[in-house]
Amino acid sequence: MNFQSEAVSSIPPYLFSKINQRKKELIEHGMDVIDLGIGAPDLPTPPHIVDKLKEEMEDPLNFKYSPYGGCSEFREAVATFYEREFSVRLDSEKEVLTLIGSKEGIGHLLPAVMNPGDHFLVPDPGYPVYESASVLARIKTIPFPLKEENRFVLDFNDIPVEKANQAKAMILNYPGNPTSATVTLEFFQRAADFAEKYDLLLIHDSAYNMITFKDYEAPSLLQADINRERVVEFGSLSKSYCMTGWRIGYAVGSQAALNSLCVIKSNLDTSQFLPIQKAAAYALSGDQSFMKEYNTIFENRMLIMYNALQEAGIEASKPNGSIFLWCKVPLRLTSKEFAEQLLEQTGVIITPGSAFGLQGEGFFRVSLSSGEDRLQEAAKRIANFIRTPIRRDLI
Ligand SMILES: Cc1ncc(COP(=O)(O)O)c(C=O)c1O
Repeated sequence: MNFQSEAVSSIPPYLFSKINQRKKELIEHGMDVIDLGIGAPDLPTPPHIVDKLKEEMEDPLNFKYSPYGGCSEFREAVATFYEREFSVRLDSEKEVLTLIGSKEGIGHLLPAVMNPGDHFLVPDPGYPVYESASVLARIKTIPFPLKEENRFVLDFNDIPVEKANQAKAMILNYPGNPTSATVTLEFFQRAADFAEKYDLLLIHDSAYNMITFKDYEAPSLLQADINRERVVEFGSLSKSYCMTGWRIGYAVGSQAALNSLCVIKSNLDTSQFLPIQKAAAYALSGDQSFMKEYNTIFENRMLIMYNALQEAGIEASKPNGSIFLWCKVPLRLTSKEFAEQLLEQTGVIITPGSAFGLQGEGFFRVSLSSGEDRLQEAAKRIANFIRTPIRRDLI
């Protein structure tokens, strides 16, 4: 019996699954493993948000189905958030949709706005879900390169005209995973002009929008001068509010695209549990002071790791935001070999760049999701590792 569809079997193998298996074995053998592969913040959800959830859990009316597009409290809170952070006005009923995490939204938007065989411009390196969600929806991806010489910011000239003409939609992601590249509003204006020129739906994944350092503030695509019907921006409370397991995010922008997305959602998931939506509404509109404190923690971790890697002779881009460092593989190994050897010999897990696309080869991603002591220890082990001879027998 074959219970695997062609679509599922053609999803590219997850490069990291082998490493995860090995992690388990090494821990069982008593190794002290430091996991810098996880792309999720380790800090707790701020207590006032947890308290709000508890309060909402006391109301039995909250145990009913949510409206398909999400409850008005959450949608209004997203609109308030956009007005406060970006001076962008949104119609909360028509231009905001609740999501069960932005991954769900990305996965459902693609078949909602495109047909099988349509072409979709995606970043390389990029968040792997852009590719796998496209495979599931039978949409053909056209990867566009994010180059080191451009600090991993897209140069629109790198997209051939015939590819741009072929595409129906394009997705961007800044602050970026895995590269942690950031952009200015001027970049989004160029993106908007490109989308107008080639008649594209322009999607922006802003999962890390509030995790920024020093004076840098990540812009919203909706601040650009563009017909809003051409734009969808995804956001998430997972990273900025440390709410990964809560599964709550939002899509804003094009009414037509959000309506299509809502048709899929109303037939498949009926939105998120109301107490979660209401606590998330409180997160977006309530006290934001923790965010500065959390961002300082991530920035300090980033500086510790960045400086330690520099000292060890590993090149990395110094980010203005996100929870990642994107580094160059220092040895004559593929990124996968480097990740595997590093784990075997030191117990440190990083993510090989090739997990994010062809252009990711030669790089690796370090997640700042561990405390300063563990990062320092990991950096020490990495430095020792690159000084020791390579054991190819372990590859
Ligand atoms: C770039 C990017 N987009 C979207 C997501 C999905 O986040 P969530 O579904 O938790 O909102 C992630 C999670 O790792 C991510 O890195």
